[in-house]
Amino acid sequence: MIQKVPIHFSDNIELYIKRIDLIDNQIPGNKYFKLKYNIEEAKKLGKEKLITFGGAYSNHILAVSYAGKRHNLKTYAFIRGEELESKYQTNSQLKIASENGMNFVFVSRSDYREKNKLLERYFREHKESEYYIVPEGGTNSLAVKGTEEILGNDTENYDYICTAVGTGGTLAGITNAKLEHQKVLGFPALKDSEFLVKEIKKYTQNKFELIQEYHFGGYAKKNEKLINFVDEFNKKTNIIIEPIYTGKMMYGVFEEIKKGKFKSGSKILTIHTGGVNQ
Ligand SMILES: Cc1ncc(COP(=O)(O)O)c(C=O)c1O
Repeated sequence: MIQKVPIHFSDNIELYIKRIDLIDNQIPGNKYFKLKYNIEEAKKLGKEKLITFGGAYSNHILAVSYAGKRHNLKTYAFIRGEELESKYQTNSQLKIASENGMNFVFVSRSDYREKNKLLERYFREHKESEYYIVPEGGTNSLAVKGTEEILGNDTENYDYICTAVGTGGTLAGITNAKLEHQKVLGFPALKDSEFLVKEIKKYTQNKFELIQEYHFGGYAKKNEKLINFVDEFNKKTNIIIEPIYTGKMMYGVFEEIKKGKFKSGSKILTIHTGGVNQ
């Protein structure tokens, strides 16, 4: 479903939002598309278990736990931060993931960085052939095959497509599926995202642009300006966005409209990739 954002902009610019956050109440937004073909592949390969990685408050972890439950696959996750082990029940996402049957391995931040080593160590004691590995943030080529389906017949008449960026899998799929006349703009939610361009180019040969100025200091960082913007947007439009991904992207789009980035008369489509306000 695409909604017009009921806010008036100068220069006849019109802003729209594609509500993929509403596609599935357990596996919402981009997660639905990123996991779709990975789950299919895991089943095709006869795997019984999904194993993945994530931080506290990871939408990805929660989505994988629901996907496993739905598809009868056991789920395992390496969680960044040993300190969470004793208190994960107080973390909204991890609590629900655990109730969905997900098993956690809590690891230090330095161990977490070395994902291959973590897996190697884990598989010394567990049967590797039973596991299907879903990368951190869920991005791989099957995820991108899925995110290509975010665009469709309903998105053909928009000049710009804007999305939040974490690992870049969502942006890569959208960039693959865009039409010749469409420009794709990505708004990273993390600081130091220069590596992303190279990462995203692994999955797409089409053109895209990253606008790096709206990360607000890094992942899940926010300030009063952003919080006020998101509150006001939510009140004015009745479309609920959060300040971690979609809120930062939307803030960036509003700023870029003010700066004259978009041609007059443009129709801008933003993607509501889901996400939970913590
Ligand atoms: C709500 C939401 N939007 C956007 C993204 C970014 O997606 P990607 O990692 O594919 O860039 C994420 C993170 O995965 C997310 O949880």
